[in-house]
Amino acid sequence: MTDDGFTVTPYTVSGEIDYENVLEQFGADRLTDEQIARFPTPVHPLVRRRVFYAGRDVDRFLSAATAGERHSIVTGRGPSGAMHLGHIIPLYFAKHLQQQTNALVYLPFSDDEKYFVTDNSLEEIGAQTRENLRDLLAVGFDPDRTRIIVDTADADVIYPLAAAFAPSVTGSTFEAAYGQPKNIGHAFYPAVQAAHLLLPQLVEGRHPTLVPIGVDQDPHVRVCRDIAAKRRYDVDKPGALLSKFLPSLDGPGKMSSSSNSGTTPTIYLSDDRETVFEKIHTHAYSGGQPTVDEHRKHGGDPQADVSYQLLHSFFEADDDRLDRIEREYRNGALLSGELKEMAADAIASFLDAHQRRRRRLDSLETELRRYRLTEHEREHARRRVGHSTFKTMI
Ligand code: TRP
Repeated sequence: MTDDGFTVTPYTVSGEIDYENVLEQFGADRLTDEQIARFPTPVHPLVRRRVFYAGRDVDRFLSAATAGERHSIVTGRGPSGAMHLGHIIPLYFAKHLQQQTNALVYLPFSDDEKYFVTDNSLEEIGAQTRENLRDLLAVGFDPDRTRIIVDTADADVIYPLAAAFAPSVTGSTFEAAYGQPKNIGHAFYPAVQAAHLLLPQLVEGRHPTLVPIGVDQDPHVRVCRDIAAKRRYDVDKPGALLSKFLPSLDGPGKMSSSSNSGTTPTIYLSDDRETVFEKIHTHAYSGGQPTVDEHRKHGGDPQADVSYQLLHSFFEADDDRLDRIEREYRNGALLSGELKEMAADAIASFLDAHQRRRRRLDSLETELRRYRLTEHEREHARRRVGHSTFKTMI
């Protein structure tokens, strides 16, 4: 915990987050209007509306992306449980960018990390990994431009890279970035995530990489940037695009599977329409007035209203429609119940489509084949950090 009354690290998010203050602590930059305007059009609502509000080396990435030069996106998943809306949104964002700029997308799964930092057994983590992989595949990335990596399944490439990077992360670097490690696996993990973030460049050659993630994950980017600078592997420091958290249903704060109060449900990717409506109606914190009469008279507060915030972040892409919703909610013409219906309907339709694509998937093995690193790519990455393969060693 800092003096500011909140903590943001990859392993603890608590307190009332001051997002500007986080940037000062982390040394990342606020996204500027000019940067937002440089994103390919249509600029995704998450960027346009500053849910992604900060970054590192965003300009270098945008220059490459707009000039049609090689560029990549890395965003991953820690498979610790069933996925909810907050988990999938950055993945849909990555897909949106891939469609616009033909970006390479690398999607690492840190099953090792989740084994180190949660109480789940290896079997449980394995089962979650398989479930989460199906959700990721349902997003619909271009298999020719996308690689999916699972730390323990792709250890032949991840381990040599992580081992090459690990000496660059001292105990005090770890503590400054993450606090006390829970165990030695945890203490090693930053080297693994550094391997994820540098992997596209180690496979394809030096180029700008962007890591779109929740601001809590920025310490991993920072550590990796230091490694990239120290080790002189002829790689660019990976850039980052850092987001605020989606609100949890019970109000501002991080949407999480283990919600603050412990009682507010999260919207899972597997929730059906009825469940989504029920959760929003019962639990979405309202910025409206206690009675309809008062609401008509005084209006509601969209900033405090979780349904409005969900539409704003992701689910209502149309600016004019969103403006109208905001205006009418503020002046009392739109009631809280009506706003909840709008949010629930948008979320349920999004999940319907996601679930339909998920159901149509073939077996995991068949689907994944198209997304795995080729032998050549693995070999290339290992050689770039100075490892020879077992085969060539003996
Ligand atoms: N550590 C991330 C988490 O806990 C998951 C992750 C692994 C990741 N590798 C990544 C995220 C690379 C972004 C980029 O959620």
